[in-house]
Amino acid sequence: MQAISTETWREKVVEDHRQLNEAVAGIRRLLEEPRPEIGQPGAHAWASEMSRRMVELHDHLCRHFRYEEQGGMMEDLMESHPRATGKVETLVDEHATMLEESRWMIGALLSYSEEAERSGAGLRQRLSAMLDRLEEHERHENSLIMDLAFDDLGLGD
Ligand SMILES: [Fe+2]
Repeated sequence: MQAISTETWREKVVEDHRQLNEAVAGIRRLLEEPRPEIGQPGAHAWASEMSRRMVELHDHLCRHFRYEEQGGMMEDLMESHPRATGKVETLVDEHATMLEESRWMIGALLSYSEEAERSGAGLRQRLSAMLDRLEEHERHENSLIMDLAFDDLGLGD
């Protein structure tokens, strides 16, 4: 019974991670494009497009994190890796932090679009660092999920 439930969330979470990776790669590409300075032609379009993508990412993350927390994944991971309980709890804490950072970033991008006083370079660095943390977070999850899969196959320790 538990194996079926594990299979269900694992398939969805792994597919979600793939889609999130694609979204993050697209945001990184836009981040690397020449970005017009505040007040220059194109600055508004760049900031609008970036904030639109961040709103989409935030929405996806909200649904993804809720599923991970309520769809059985965290329970399964803690049950099968009691020694990793601390790690799993940290992952859950990171969800709230990343959603908060995404919302802050959306606000900052919209302010940039409105030509408010912001450091463009600082904003870009902060967004890049946020994406690094998100990718690192999902890598940790993937690694725990892989451990669980090995255990299911009787290959774990
Ligand atoms: Fe995840």
